[in-house]
Amino acid sequence: MASFARTLLSSILLLLWSGLVAALTSTLQQVTNYGTNPTNVGMFVYKPTTVTANPAVIVAIHYCGGTAQAYFTGSPYAQYADTYGFIVIYPNSPNSGTCWDVSSVATLTHNGGGDSLGIRNQVAYAISTYGADPSRIFVTGTSSGAMMTNVLAAVYPDVFAAAIVYSGVAAGCFMSSFGGVDAWNSSCAEGLVSQTSAQWAAQVHAMYPGYTGAYPPIQEYHGTADTTLYPENLGEEIKEWAGIFGYNAAAPTQVLQNTPLSGYTKSIYGPALQGISAAGVGHTVPIQGNEDMKWFGFVAGGAAPPKSTGTSTGTTSTVGPTSPPTTTVSTPTSTPTGGHGATLG
Ligand SMILES: *[C@@H]1O[C@H](CO)[C@@H](O)[C@H](O)[C@H]1NC(C)=O
Repeated sequence: MASFARTLLSSILLLLWSGLVAALTSTLQQVTNYGTNPTNVGMFVYKPTTVTANPAVIVAIHYCGGTAQAYFTGSPYAQYADTYGFIVIYPNSPNSGTCWDVSSVATLTHNGGGDSLGIRNQVAYAISTYGADPSRIFVTGTSSGAMMTNVLAAVYPDVFAAAIVYSGVAAGCFMSSFGGVDAWNSSCAEGLVSQTSAQWAAQVHAMYPGYTGAYPPIQEYHGTADTTLYPENLGEEIKEWAGIFGYNAAAPTQVLQNTPLSGYTKSIYGPALQGISAAGVGHTVPIQGNEDMKWFGFVAGGAAPPKSTGTSTGTTSTVGPTSPPTTTVSTPTSTPTGGHGATLG
């Protein structure tokens, strides 16, 4: 674990967010005692001075070697929060090397504990304390934070409305054979774990047995030259979510070349699943901030479908009919361009 962390730290490439032109309207605040938090996950919040009524929330999860603070300054979400009036939660890893626990049975089980439960309860705190809209809770992350994003979509599908993954692995791919917490899994990292869509879907369903509701629509980014989490992982992520959504992972309905950037190929498998392969890009796939704002529905053009289009049966979720229209947003005159990336592991 220590040597792994060292390896990661030695190769950390942190690109500072260069689009930060305007000063933010508020500051990053730590929240303590937000609720049940078995592994002591830190909670940091960016709440603009002006938010919309019942604001949306983006949970933005850092990479190995990173921190909430580093992801706050190194990603464009706070700047967008000022523009669109949402709140950003930056969880802070409690683990040595600051990777996330995406390997233990606890973290991979609905209400089972682990880092995933702490993050889930940060969302609950934002809903009860800031009046956040439970139907517009989004999640994204880079590297280890991307792995956690897949895990949260699988373990807490009831909580998240949409997800975006920058260089991760399929939920459950890092599962430790010896029950290790925050354990590295080289076979998964090196792209040697291959399962069918049906096997992945069964694994995801086992993380929240009995759940019959919809899963969050998800975008998966990955670089073809990634030597930390090999590019085969994109294929496994696609198989996993295609299995969940009932799509064919081998037959995208649409393939868009040079989208959203030159050299990137976006494959659309259905309304709720897109894979974006970045040719020649390594482990740091720069955050595509404006694309993220579209997928999360803050900007027109390419929003994820409402989760309710899925197979919502039975469970009356607390996702209330109270969600107001997202109108108060101003036009994106000075939206940060492109994005930036920060990374590792
Ligand atoms: C790595 O994960 C795979 C499943 O994705 C599992 O079969 C394997 O046992 C794990 N390896 C270790 C060392 O835990």
